[in-house]
Amino acid sequence: MLTVLFLGDIVGEPGRNAVIARLPDLKEQHAVDFIIVNGENAAGGRGITGKITIDLLRAGVAVVTTGDHVWDQKDIFSFIDTEPRLLRPINYPAGAPGNGSIVLETAKGKIGVINVQCRTFMQPILDNPFRAVEAAVAKIREETPNIIVDVHGETTSEKIAMGHFLDGKVSAVLGTHTHVQTADEQILGGGTAFLCDAGMCGPVNSILGRAVEPIMNRFVSNLPAAFPVAAGDVRLHGALVAIDEKTGRALNITRVNEPGPAQASAEPEPKIDLEQSSSPEQT
Ligand SMILES: [Fe+2]
Ligand SMILES: [Fe+2]
Repeated sequence: MLTVLFLGDIVGEPGRNAVIARLPDLKEQHAVDFIIVNGENAAGGRGITGKITIDLLRAGVAVVTTGDHVWDQKDIFSFIDTEPRLLRPINYPAGAPGNGSIVLETAKGKIGVINVQCRTFMQPILDNPFRAVEAAVAKIREETPNIIVDVHGETTSEKIAMGHFLDGKVSAVLGTHTHVQTADEQILGGGTAFLCDAGMCGPVNSILGRAVEPIMNRFVSNLPAAFPVAAGDVRLHGALVAIDEKTGRALNITRVNEPGPAQASAEPEPKIDLEQSSSPEQT
């Protein structure tokens, strides 16, 4: 049996500190073989840096996935081609830096990971995610049946469609982007584990990981504002998937909803540029 721990969007310094602090005991407690985290909001809520990627990999993460915020930190354009374990959505046009999939060797055989971005209510609108992932899955299945897909999207319907589209072809389809964990974990008819959204690793008293007041005021006033990452208690959200590594079929999926470590760090967040602040609904 192969046990995969998948954690949803890491938000800012509170989120990444909590993930790094909790990974050793989560790994031991659940006999985890392979860890995937979505890091698209790990740097001050916007994107990820090379240093943060390395910190996560050193903490035991095997693959870092991303999404629509992948390019928010400038150093990632040059870094991503030096670190194949950092993925960007696979359905970017040809020529984009980085890769959308990887196959890694483990003690229990090869594991493939694919990161794909949905199109409904998402920017930028990328190539057809279904066709892109279909081609990638066919290629990876020549090497291994153990494949995990991070489907990064806003709408439940598009992500559920992706689950059914890949049912029987991959081990798990796990959603990210909304930062809100769904309660629909299941194993589809063909043996693919599915969860519409893994949730986030970030501050609980927040709006999607950002401080409540500025985002609430933005909705009330329609005026631009900066959206700092919130402080306070953190929860780690995600999923644990058990896989029969001989067939690639999922045996079990359970949601992860774990507390972060009690202590908050005083490390300052990267300054957020007002002009570049995301709209509150874009995570
Ligand atoms: Fe996102
Ligand atoms: Fe996100």
